[in-house]
Formats: sequence, C-alpha cells, structure tokens
Amino acid sequence: MSMRQFPEGFLWGAATAAYQVEGAWNEDGKGESIWDRFTHRPYTILNGDTGDVACDHYHRMPADVALMKELGLQTYRFSISWPRVVPEGRGAVNEKGLDFYDRLVDSLLDAGIVPNATLNHWDLPQAIQDAGGWPNRDSADWFADYARVAFDRLGDRVALWATHNEPPVVAFAGYAYGVFAPGIADSSQAYQAAHHLLLAHGKAVQAFRQGGYEGEIGIVIDFHHYQPASDSEADRAACQRARENAARFFADPLFKGRYPETLIEWIGPHAPRVQAGDMDLISQPMDFLGVNHYMTFAVSFTPRGGLLKFSMEQVSAPNWGRTQVGWGVNPAGLTAALLDIKEEYGNPKVYVTENGCATADVPDADGFVADWGRVNFLRAHLRAVHDAIQAGANVQGYYVWSLMDNFEWVSGYEPRFGIVRVDYQTGKRIPKQSARWYSEVIASNQVAE
Ligand code: FCB
Repeated sequence: MSMRQFPEGFLWGAATAAYQVEGAWNEDGKGESIWDRFTHRPYTILNGDTGDVACDHYHRMPADVALMKELGLQTYRFSISWPRVVPEGRGAVNEKGLDFYDRLVDSLLDAGIVPNATLNHWDLPQAIQDAGGWPNRDSADWFADYARVAFDRLGDRVALWATHNEPPVVAFAGYAYGVFAPGIADSSQAYQAAHHLLLAHGKAVQAFRQGGYEGEIGIVIDFHHYQPASDSEADRAACQRARENAARFFADPLFKGRYPETLIEWIGPHAPRVQAGDMDLISQPMDFLGVNHYMTFAVSFTPRGGLLKFSMEQVSAPNWGRTQVGWGVNPAGLTAALLDIKEEYGNPKVYVTENGCATADVPDADGFVADWGRVNFLRAHLRAVHDAIQAGANVQGYYVWSLMDNFEWVSGYEPRFGIVRVDYQTGKRIPKQSARWYSEVIASNQVAE
C-alpha cells in the first residue's frame, strides 16, 4: 500500500468546545452563558437537550487527558468558557473557574500534549448579551479584558491561542437567522456584531502582543467551499455573495483591512458602522489562521432568498452520500478551500482546527463502534489536506472534530461526531475504530493512498 507522508513536525490533534463537553453549567461560581439561557428555553433544542451535564468533562478532565495521551494526540484544542472565568462578563474574576483551565493545561503538558485554547467558542456571558451582546461596541473591550485574564494566568504555558471560533456563525446564525443563541433575527445587529467580533479579536491580539506572552495567536474561521449551481451570471454572482457573507466577511478585514465591497454594497443600510482606526486594529498581523471545514455548497440565485437572494444546497462527491446530519461529503472541497486561502490571503500558516463527521453509530455489547464510515471520511480529508500541502499551502496541523461525542448545539446529543464514544447514561468513554485508526496515522505521520 502506498502511503502519503506528512511534513515533519505536522501537529495532530482533536478538538472540543467548553459548552459542548464541560457540563457543570452552574458550578463553582460559573455565570450563565447565552447557550445556558437558550437551551433552557422550551422548544429550542432537539429533544429538549441542554449542555447542563454534557460529557461531564469538568469533573472527568484528568481521565479525558489520560485518554488523549493513550490515543497519542500531540495537541488538544479546547475552549475557555468566558462566563466560567468572568461570570458577569466583566468585573470580578472567578478563581475556581480559572483553576479548572490551569489544571487542564498542566495535565496536558504533563501528558506531552500541546494546548490550543480558543477564547470564544460561542458561550458569551448572558450578562454581556443583556448589555446588548456583540452588537454593542463595548463588548470588544470586555472581551479584551477577559482575554487578558486568560493570558495572564495561562500565557506561560499555552502554545496556541485563538480569539474566536467561527465568527460567521456567531454573527449570522446567532444574530441574523436566530437559529443559534442568542436567537436574534436582525441583519443590522448581525453585521454590527460581525464588526465588533473583529474588533474584539484585534484588541485581544494587541493585548497579547503588549503582554509579551510566549505562544502564538490567531483566529478560527469556518471556510467551506462554494460553487455556483450553474454557469449563469446570476448564480455566479449569488455564489460570490454567499462566499462573502461567510468566511470572507471576516478574513478580508483580517488580511486585507477591508470588507468585501460587493457585499457591503448589497447589504446597504445593514453595513456595519466602522470607526477610524478599526480596520488597522483588525488587520494587525496574527501568527496563524485556524480553518474549520465541513461542507461544499452549490449556490443559486433565488429571488425569494431573503436579503442576499441566494439559496444553497449541500454537495456530495459521487458515492459519498450524506452524513448523519445530512451534510454532503466532498473531500476535494477541503483542498479547494485551503488553496483559496493560499491565493487570497498570502499563504498564511494554517491549522485545520476542525474537520469530521457525524455518523449513525451502532455500539456492540461492549459499547465499541466500528465506525468505518468515519475512517473513510477522515482518510479522504487527510488526503485532501495532503494535496493542498503538495500544491504549496502552508498547513501545519490537523484537528479532528471531535475528540468525543458531545452536545451538538440545536441538534442536541443525537449527532455523534466523536472518535470516542460517550455513553451518556454512565459517562463512559469508549474509543471507536476511528480513534484506533487515527492513533496509527499520528504514530506514522502518514495516511494511506
Ligand atoms: C462547527 C463548530 C463545532 C461543532 C462542529 C460540528 O461549526 O465549531 O462546535 O459543532 O461544527
């Protein structure tokens, strides 16, 4: 069997996020987040699930880190819950909350695992939302203050920092479509939220530089792949709008210091209010770009398609079918997304910070899942990453989403994204076939052709 070798030093890891795994939603002084508020509202989440207990990682952290070590992970991407650390979003710091991340980071280092910490994986303190949330410009300063608290405590040991996870999802799913917390449907608020997320990123990077901390800092953005549904000019223009209303709405300001012009014109009065100096702050250099990738879309012009007049359909490459949550599977889309970043943004250093799939896992009597579908998915996507590296993209690591089954936002616990099964009745963790396979990939630094 011929093998594809990854570059020396390529980092292999897995990812999770605080709200999706920790549980302990109101323990040890933690404040309420917008996801606590949102999930506690009736008829919001599939089956009425919440992250109150989730994978109980808050209590099981030492065993979880031991498992990561056993699997041979070289790096672990987690997020810090802002309301666990600063319960009201600003002001008093909750030492017990901070202690948890302190112990996590030390445990990872003891296990030889590189910590990769995200400051905002969507769980904004409810108190900040009550003060207007991301559409309030002050939220950028409050975020930078919280970031400083995290840097001061953990900055001597965390090698990789990300400010936000998928800010397009925060702004658009959270404030334009209302499908995610805080559940607001208002385009003007959404674009203003987007601008303040960027500003918050800029201020946090500035604080990081001023503090002279050891590690590197970047941001994590979801870069999917977009194709016009046909060759028509209308579909091609719609495709451009779809692209610009997602990753590019953030990456253009970060790398080029400006918003995508055609989109800004299109959204007219909803365009964000920008103050002098904002774009310089936003576009200051960062150390890496985190890329999450899940899907390829075919985009059509649709006169009834809301503000942006487009609709999107999932694309699957021949014979791949769909994942448990109905997402298409198109490994070549990952190569295309990585090469697009290389061309558009000057070939920045990239980590693929999330990629993976939900499968309808069926455990055997011992709870073991032979998830060959996930193995095939991951293998094909690793080849796609390798293709991008061969074509010159500066990709230096890959994180599977997810280390373990967890709370998948509005879809609750039904989708299973983990390479480790979680038995939610007992809390037991059982590595799946994909975890065994991934361990071999990591140990050999190669993937089969
Ligand atoms: C991404 C999120 C992550 C997880 C995966 C499946 O959009 O960043 O938390 O839910 O999707």
